[in-house]
Amino acid sequence: MTFRASVLTLYPEMFPGPLGRSLSGRAMERGDVSLDAIQIRDFATDRHRSVDDTPAGGGAGMVLRADVLASAIDHACPPGDERPRLLMSPRGKPLTQARVRALAEGPGVLVVCGRFEGVDERVIEARSLEEVSIGDYVLSGGEPAAIVLLDAVVRLLPGVMGNARSGTFESFETGLLEHPHYTRPASFEGRGIPPVLTSGNHAAIEAWRNERATSLTRERRPDLLASHETAVKMPPGR
Ligand code: ADE
Repeated sequence: MTFRASVLTLYPEMFPGPLGRSLSGRAMERGDVSLDAIQIRDFATDRHRSVDDTPAGGGAGMVLRADVLASAIDHACPPGDERPRLLMSPRGKPLTQARVRALAEGPGVLVVCGRFEGVDERVIEARSLEEVSIGDYVLSGGEPAAIVLLDAVVRLLPGVMGNARSGTFESFETGLLEHPHYTRPASFEGRGIPPVLTSGNHAAIEAWRNERATSLTRERRPDLLASHETAVKMPPGR
């Protein structure tokens, strides 16, 4: 089954961008993913093809019109199309690996890229758009955020990740940041590889990695550690 991604944007030339390369590029070539970038302006109705207007109540910037965006959504994702409809926005709920995994298990996604100061609230309500943020910083538009979201989803699709470990031991899947990695040469600018990693003792290697992952998480992301410890103490269903 092809995972269908439709992106509504004022800059369709930004797609597929980096998604056309590497893992996701190959997934698209195989037909595991389709990506359709749709120009919102094509749904404007006036002779100036305007998509935005000044905010009601005054203030800076421009607001994406509800009617134009609704027409674009109805074209890309008509009634009966069960794909989740996302709006990339710094005001959205933070994107998590759990949400990414849920999206990857579905039929696809409609992604609306915000621009200007915002999107008319009525189209968000009327078309049930789920606002999603990729982090606490402001981009000039939703396009790079859409690319980030799609990259995270596509790598989880069945058959996309060449590596059989399928992401299960990665950061945010285990609830811990990843342990450090090493490869040849054995000595780099006077720095060696931790001897345990070349000992052949798999239990000791596992324990070392666990300890390093835990202390790195404690140092950098204590917020993650709290929920990891809860999960380890109380596995789901207990
Ligand atoms: N658009 C602008 N900033 C954004 C962010 N942080 N996440 C998602 N979409 C955005």
